[in-house]
Amino acid sequence: MQPSDFEAHAATLQMTSPAQLPLSKRLKAGTRRDHDSVDTLIMQSRPFESLQRYDYFLRLQHRFHGSIDALYDDIELNRLLPGLSELPRFEAVRADITDLGLPLPPTPPAVAPPSTHAALGWLYCSEGSNLGAAFLFKETQQIGLNGENGARHLAAHPDGRGLHWRQFVALLDGLELSESQREEAVSGAVAAFDFYRAALRELFPTI
Ligand code: HEM
Repeated sequence: MQPSDFEAHAATLQMTSPAQLPLSKRLKAGTRRDHDSVDTLIMQSRPFESLQRYDYFLRLQHRFHGSIDALYDDIELNRLLPGLSELPRFEAVRADITDLGLPLPPTPPAVAPPSTHAALGWLYCSEGSNLGAAFLFKETQQIGLNGENGARHLAAHPDGRGLHWRQFVALLDGLELSESQREEAVSGAVAAFDFYRAALRELFPTI
């Protein structure tokens, strides 16, 4: 390798090293495996095969969104991410359960991430899950549900599915965080996926 090649290679590596990535990309890279395992587990649990299995899925969504609901009202998190308080989906999950004539489970205890920066990772996990929800929403049509009945929490926002995500990502990437704060955010996102996976295993009878 010529010295100039080496320099170019080193520059590329530096550009793509985790420390240099925008926070959203760092979170994505740090949770790729977690995402894929959760995605696989959900599909294996066949949540859209019948209304009964969808009920298990709604209980899972109720556990996850109920546990993080208070984060959306947190003052410090709203200072970091203006507009956050408009994004939670817990109420929509509750409405979906009621649509199906099912009793609402008790509201789960709130999670307590160890720091505000860890909480950012939990929110990344929750907000990103809106993207995959496009696919899940389509699947709910197989069992006769839609955005006004039973699948409200998976429906696109009236402004479009991508807009809020792009705004959320822009806010995350605009935060000035230290390296250790960025690491806390990644740990928070991993903890959120771990939480989701554990709840899935607990709430779906055959997983
Ligand atoms: C069967 C279930 C799931 C499928 C098929 C799925 C699929 C997807 C797809 C296709 C994307 C990328 C969309 C795009 O870039 O436009 C995505 C993104 C994402 N999903 Fe999922 N997903 C599933 C479940 C979940 C769950 C349960 C969570 C969290 C609890 C989650 C969290 C995320 C996050 C955080 C992103 C954003 C990744 C990024 O930073 O770009 N997903 N998902």
